[in-house]
Amino acid sequence: MSGSAEAAAIEVTGLCKTFSQRKALDRVGIRVAPGEMVALIGTSGSGKSTLLRHIAGLIPADRLGGDIRVLGQNVQSGGKVSRDVRRIRSRVGFVFQQFNLVGRLTLLTNTLVGLLSRVPTWRSTAHCFTRAEKRAAMASLERVGIAEHAGQRASTLSGGQQQRGAIARAMVQRAQVILADEPIASLDPESSHRVLAALATLNREDGATVLVSLHQIDYAWRYCPRSVALKDGRVVFDGPTHSLTPELLRHVYGSSACWPAEGTSAPQAALTPPALHDARETQHGALSLFDHHCDPARAGCLN
Ligand SMILES: Nc1ncnc2c1ncn2[C@@H]1O[C@H](COP(=O)(O)OP(=O)(O)OP(=O)(O)O)[C@@H](O)[C@H]1O
Ligand SMILES: [Mg+2]
Repeated sequence: MSGSAEAAAIEVTGLCKTFSQRKALDRVGIRVAPGEMVALIGTSGSGKSTLLRHIAGLIPADRLGGDIRVLGQNVQSGGKVSRDVRRIRSRVGFVFQQFNLVGRLTLLTNTLVGLLSRVPTWRSTAHCFTRAEKRAAMASLERVGIAEHAGQRASTLSGGQQQRGAIARAMVQRAQVILADEPIASLDPESSHRVLAALATLNREDGATVLVSLHQIDYAWRYCPRSVALKDGRVVFDGPTHSLTPELLRHVYGSSACWPAEGTSAPQAALTPPALHDARETQHGALSLFDHHCDPARAGCLN
């Protein structure tokens, strides 16, 4: 357990990961309180996916490479993934770009898969769900606005619909922590907003803690009260997203930094984050860079 009275939803301490002698994560430390919605930002290759995979217990850190706890439970420590990781994962929802829904199954069945940890194995493998369970799954699909596609094979859904399906599945699962790795990459702006609005609903209405990696600062600005920026595997900024002023970005990020488009509203705090860190430079002294995915039509480039 952490030192505080309330267990952090996600607690990463001194996390290091080396791939072929190259440090992908370098002493990463993050504490996310229950009910926060946090953006993980940074350039391509900065370590966002690697960090999320470690938090999910999908890959082990370096030996002596730090600890990760989720909902007060040990996910991994000193390069060893916990034997209990499956039990912890039953409380975590994943919205990862690559492996979300099972393409040959309908959207409804994919959503019901969220019940896997709560129904007997024979029922889930036989896709044998009760009416009440199906009603709950349909209600989740309605909440994310895709109920009309319930009977459609997942492989035929658009990217944005698939992502919202993964979010509906997390709702059915009653996931307490959501890890989302670039859920809006390659989606158009309207679909992107729908996906992030669905995540925000899960955060605000269901109290789920959300850690979502994003390339675009304007989406972080709009949906995530707090941002953590990685650069070269290090946390280089951790604070309120709206404290990333144009001046700060211009000063720190250089000419390729993107600023939220005119009229983008500030992040809407869902449940009030209990312990937002003050905006600060970290011990590493620099802030991150946003070097791509800037849509000049929507965002002002700071040059
Ligand atoms: N399995 C692996 N083997 C070797 N190197 C890896 C592996 N996975 C990640 N890396 C390296 O670790 C670094 C961080 O990669 P990661 O995918 O976490 O970045 P990212 O921030 O998610 O980037 P993007 O925004 O492009 O998705 C990169 O240099 C990448 O090449
Ligand atoms: Mg990535």
